Amino acid sequence: MTELRQKIPGRVHDKIALVTGGAKGIGRASVRLLAREGARVVIADIDVAAGQALAAEIGDAALFLRHDAGSEAGWQQLMAEVRERFGRLDILVNNAGILIAGTIEETSLEDWHRLMRVNADSVFLGCREAIGLMKAGGGSIINLSSIAALAGRDDYLAYSASKGAVAALTRSVAAFCRRRKYRIRCNSLHPDGVLTDMTSGGFPAGLDPERLTIDSDPMNRMCRPEDVAASVLFLASDEARAVNGVELRVDSGQMVMSI
Ligand SMILES: NC(=O)c1ccc[n+]([C@@H]2O[C@H](COP(=O)([O-])OP(=O)(O)OC[C@H]3O[C@@H](n4cnc5c(N)ncnc54)[C@H](O)[C@@H]3O)[C@@H](O)[C@H]2O)c1
Repeated sequence: MTELRQKIPGRVHDKIALVTGGAKGIGRASVRLLAREGARVVIADIDVAAGQALAAEIGDAALFLRHDAGSEAGWQQLMAEVRERFGRLDILVNNAGILIAGTIEETSLEDWHRLMRVNADSVFLGCREAIGLMKAGGGSIINLSSIAALAGRDDYLAYSASKGAVAALTRSVAAFCRRRKYRIRCNSLHPDGVLTDMTSGGFPAGLDPERLTIDSDPMNRMCRPEDVAASVLFLASDEARAVNGVELRVDSGQMVMSI
């Protein structure tokens, strides 16, 4: 059985993938799954220790490169390196992101700019720079937005706005690539609560986060990074070749229960 499995090509066999914010959380789960399914994966992150540890865990199929996703010069350098090493890029997961809480009355312009830089500038730059490497052979771009882009979040004003920018940008990139016949698909993912470092500080003291997952109760909202990575893999693979410009919710039905 094991031998048979080894002979069956993975779902993203031989593809070149790049995951921003790939060292931890949803990015790390995506890197592991893409590598397991046959891709060679570039892990791009500002966390050098976590990125190198993940690359060492995966072995030959992974490469860590330090990269600030909000830096224009950084993107140009990163794409030059990918071009030199691999000659192409098939999958880009624009996943790097940060979370800052605050209402419209509390949010400073500085925090607004910080969020926009890491969450939205990064996706704009990633899409723009990746198209050049993808347009000859086609590709798949997956942008991590959030359920916060689709509903009003009074407590995460700037975060919601940054994720709304990602959703709108995604649709426009998909439309652009289609019109130009580039065969580059661009889709956004909209998770709700995922158990990662990003959300770990938000639980009341003494509460076991496991009690908030859909494993213990389907009415709960929290899921695991692997649950989001599974959708990343689907959108990255050729199975999704007709899926373009969509907003895929990974929210355990949270949005349909809003009333
Ligand atoms: N966790 C959730 O509940 C949730 C829900 C909806 C959407 N998302 C989105 O999913 C994505 C991943 O979230 P997560 O929960 O895995 O977060 P996380 O905090 O666990 O991991 C984020 C990763 O991004 C990296 N990063 C941060 N700033 C960076 C920068 N400037 N350049 C490069 N890398 C950078 C971090 O080092 C880290 O490895 C984010 O875009 C987030 O907004 C998360």
